[in-house]
Amino acid sequence: MLLIKNASQLLTLEGGIRREAEDYKLQIIENGAVLIDGDKIVEVGTTRELKSSAEEEIDASGQIVMPGFVDPHTHLIFAGSREDELYLKLKGYSYLDILKMGGGILRTVRATRAASKEQLMVEAKKRMDYMLANGTTTAEAKSGYGLDLETEKKMLEVIKEIQHPLELVPTFLGAHALPSEFKDSGEFIEYMKGVIPHIKDLAKFIDIFCEKGVFSAEESREYLEEGKKFGLIPKIHADEICDIGCTRVAVDVGAISADHLVKTSKESMEYMAQSDIIATLLPATPYMLLSHEYAPARRFIEHGIPVALATDLNPNCYTESMQMVISLAVTQMRMSAEEAIIASTLNAAAAIGMQDKIGSIEKGKQADIVILDAPNYMHLGYHFGVNLVKRVIKRGKIVY
Ligand code: NIG
Ligand code: FE
Repeated sequence: MLLIKNASQLLTLEGGIRREAEDYKLQIIENGAVLIDGDKIVEVGTTRELKSSAEEEIDASGQIVMPGFVDPHTHLIFAGSREDELYLKLKGYSYLDILKMGGGILRTVRATRAASKEQLMVEAKKRMDYMLANGTTTAEAKSGYGLDLETEKKMLEVIKEIQHPLELVPTFLGAHALPSEFKDSGEFIEYMKGVIPHIKDLAKFIDIFCEKGVFSAEESREYLEEGKKFGLIPKIHADEICDIGCTRVAVDVGAISADHLVKTSKESMEYMAQSDIIATLLPATPYMLLSHEYAPARRFIEHGIPVALATDLNPNCYTESMQMVISLAVTQMRMSAEEAIIASTLNAAAAIGMQDKIGSIEKGKQADIVILDAPNYMHLGYHFGVNLVKRVIKRGKIVY
């Protein structure tokens, strides 16, 4: 047994996914304690209530104890990097300009096709070390830098086989960009639909980059519906640069989340509000696109659409830190600390269908916990640019 005690604040987040603005409550226990047996949480309360004879104890005096961060949108597996493109962006080239020049996603596709599984694993593990050290205990990871059967499969196998305390949930993102071998997006979508049966057992979710100049709303519908036939749950990259009706498709196909949503129109938002879809917002992406326009988080919350946050970790937006994302969410999207914390833990878990297992500190849940050097939760978002994480517990074991 492991006992964490004397937490200045224990954020339990008890009570299930948050939707309405008034539901974003952290459920704080002052001088809190958590008792862990094996990989499970067995008791939660004040330090006084939890007097026990655990073999191991952690004194969290002056620190906050909360659920490990869940990062529900990452492109963790890739080869190479694209630091020079940041400076092209400074010169005025847009994200889609760089893609059209054969850079961006297509450049990472060339590097990833050429890389061995071992090489991809070594690179990914380094990033996973950073993620864990920064408090992330579970992350979604996408394929999408193969755009052919062989490499998409290779990426998903890497996600499955990699050995690391950080838990990964795999997403097939075959339709991420149009590779030069195909004359048009329609032909490519036909090909990718044929790839689905070969990778169906390696992924939980299926995703597409639905965007003007990439894949249309109707192509997205067709491809996501095909994925559903093989048991994959739809997700979508939507409204990042333009709203071309992708969130409507997402709702119609029953997607678990729609991600990015910088440009989501009023009508699209109202359509989303009638469903259970989660809005996964990625503020580090506009930040790295040198844009001043962020997703309208306040309006999503006002509409009762559950909001999650994620890094979008990829060679265009190279961060492993959910603490950085929280800071951007607070300062750029005007989310409160409570909202940003819930969006990075419990609602993020819901965005990958894992809210019954992780995302809060409740009896029976998996013991995924972080201890932060902060006297209260409001320091998240406020004390920025450093790593506040002191310890990380994954499945009941101290892993950092
Ligand atoms: O979510 N926008 C599309 N896909 C990724 C970026 C991938 C890349 O640039 O390598 C995203 O931002
Ligand atoms: Fe993405």
